Amino acid sequence: MIKVSAPGKLMLFGEHAVVHGKPCIVTSVNHRMSVEVEKRDDNKIVLTAPDVGVENHEVMINDLKNEQHRKECKFVFMAVGNFFEKYNIKSGLNIKTKSDFSSKVGFGSSSAVTVSMIKALSELFGINMTDRNIFDLSYKTVLDIQGVGSGFDVAAATYGGILFFKKAGEVIRKINVKDLPLIVGYTGVKADTPTLVREINEKKMKYPELIGPVFDLSEKKVILANRALEEGNLETLGELMNFSHGLLNAVGVSSGELEKLIFASRNAESLGAKLSGAGGGDCMITLAKSDNQEDVKRAIEEVGGIIIPVKTNVEGVRIES
Ligand code: MEV
Repeated sequence: MIKVSAPGKLMLFGEHAVVHGKPCIVTSVNHRMSVEVEKRDDNKIVLTAPDVGVENHEVMINDLKNEQHRKECKFVFMAVGNFFEKYNIKSGLNIKTKSDFSSKVGFGSSSAVTVSMIKALSELFGINMTDRNIFDLSYKTVLDIQGVGSGFDVAAATYGGILFFKKAGEVIRKINVKDLPLIVGYTGVKADTPTLVREINEKKMKYPELIGPVFDLSEKKVILANRALEEGNLETLGELMNFSHGLLNAVGVSSGELEKLIFASRNAESLGAKLSGAGGGDCMITLAKSDNQEDVKRAIEEVGGIIIPVKTNVEGVRIES
């Protein structure tokens, strides 16, 4: 029996633009997905995922990549299917997944479970995979299912830390950050990332002369944010968060719920605030001075936001036992 876990993520700067070749900055967070795997003597893959109501869901090896699986099982089965195909392995498996966080908050449960699964299989079958190999196979798995995505979430789950990232892992570089006291407010609304990414694709085709420069500005802001993170300059990071949110408003991905939480935090004199991720719901992030943290959290809660305590910059995928 092998147990592996991988962290969730939060996008700090550069969402959407990263899908179009610009860099982004993502942090891993201390809410993890874990996977337990053991071999079986037959040809069945049996999955239990209590957090999403899946109990002993069986599939035959040959159907791993073919069937229309339930949403909750898709990433696990596709990861196993891709791993078996790549390394020419066939074996029955018992798999159990467990999550520290709800799949609704936008912390990247799909990529974290995919990365955990690939790492666990490499251990179980004695295949020597580097982090890069794990990233590549996990990113392929996510694309096989979602069709779109930059892979930033897969990188956070694999490598951990706070990363400067470019699409498909063209650049994956750890940023040296001492401390990032991030406050996270959940809107209570689930965002539909692939739909929003497709909407922005269409908008970019319709208005290339508008969306192109917005993404160019996003790149410049990411470079400034990288420097501010290295210098521990929270004031600048806050201002860049506001700038970043303005750009995301320009492409139209914010929502009433997000705006409510973001303005509550700004009115409580946070250093800055923005949506995090695809938009349309999920979470907003904000920074506040140490003596103002509680006021900012309270202000977000007063308008209906749910504070999710997070630690940023945590370890990537790891073997638990
Ligand atoms: C979603 O959390 C972030 C996006 O940039 C999509 C992606 O990078 O895959 C919108």
